[in-house]
Amino acid sequence: FTQWNEIELPAAFDAHVHLRDGEMARLVTPTIRKGGADTVYVMPNLVPPVTTVQQCLEYKERLQKIEPNVEYHMSLYLHESITPEVIREAKKAGVTGVKSYPAGVTTNSSSGVLDYETFYPVFAEMEAQNMILNLHGEVPSTPPHAPTSSSNPTTAITILNAEPAFLPTLKNLHTRFPKLRIILEHCSTAAALEAVRACGPSVAGTITAHHLSLIIDDWAGDPFHFCKPVAKTPEDRDALLRAVVRSEGRFFLGTDSAPHPLGKKRGEDKVAAGVFTQPYSVGYVLDALAKGVERDVIKEEEVTKEVLEGFFSGWGRKFYEVSEKGERIVVKRGKETVVDVLRSEGVEVEVVPFRRGEETWSVEW
Ligand code: NCD
Ligand code: DOR
Ligand code: ZN
Ligand code: ZN
Repeated sequence: FTQWNEIELPAAFDAHVHLRDGEMARLVTPTIRKGGADTVYVMPNLVPPVTTVQQCLEYKERLQKIEPNVEYHMSLYLHESITPEVIREAKKAGVTGVKSYPAGVTTNSSSGVLDYETFYPVFAEMEAQNMILNLHGEVPSTPPHAPTSSSNPTTAITILNAEPAFLPTLKNLHTRFPKLRIILEHCSTAAALEAVRACGPSVAGTITAHHLSLIIDDWAGDPFHFCKPVAKTPEDRDALLRAVVRSEGRFFLGTDSAPHPLGKKRGEDKVAAGVFTQPYSVGYVLDALAKGVERDVIKEEEVTKEVLEGFFSGWGRKFYEVSEKGERIVVKRGKETVVDVLRSEGVEVEVVPFRRGEETWSVEW
């Protein structure tokens, strides 16, 4: 793999993207193909969130108008207004899944889930309708001034243990709804990978490009490396690299590319969570794998053509039951320099991509 300067691959399926709406959508949607993908699964955390089938279909139309050469698979935002009736209507309309955000854990999640049990009838209907449940697998942090006494043995939740603390919920949902297809999105810990593997084949995990290279030290002090879930330890990152090459179809690409206007990253307010990777998504993953080989975390011969084809395209498409459209890409090592800022004519908003100014792989169609 480290000797290959050029690789031909199927066009990627990015199973987790934030394309936003309005100006931001006009800026980032045209970069999907630049990154190597022709098919995406679109997150619903707009303001307000996408909670009705009609909103969802209208949103899809706006995206198609911006970039018609991409296949968009759509999701609804799990919310008290989502009932089994809405699920049946969504299925009929071609909506693919429902994303669940625990209330308050990340960008635009204030109307998220407080109690999963409330939604059991919704999950049962999703299972019956063969829809996908996408989990943002973190529990909210314990309020900073909550009493911590020896009489209260509960471990306080912080952004570092928020994902491991969520894993019993994954197990419980899978046990109750064994046929419901569930994805633990943006796995960021070795524990999360284990939890997915411990479930049956109806459960999979997505892995982002940035979690394959970042660790805690990278985002401490750097807003462009701050996202939710936060990148964890070197051991966790290395477990993610191994999960890519030893996935056996259980883990595939979902970039969680999450653009924020420059001012939300460098402004005076709290820093918005999200790493923007869309225009270079395939290249970033290949770079991370090469670093993994260099550090001896994964073996050179483990990074096979089958692994790359599976992780970027085949495994995700199989889980989502979407076929390859036959388009191929050729990626070339070190032939692209990441721009400092993404801009577009007639669009005011600007976004700084991951690893600005560095070299990565180019994508040709
Ligand atoms: C942004 C915000 O509200 O400032 N999110 C965040 O801070 N996590 C919302 C956004 O920019 O989409
Ligand atoms: O970092 C993140 N950004 N994590 C999420 O779950 C949401 C996303 C966003 O929408 O910006
Ligand atoms: Zn998420
Ligand atoms: Zn996301």
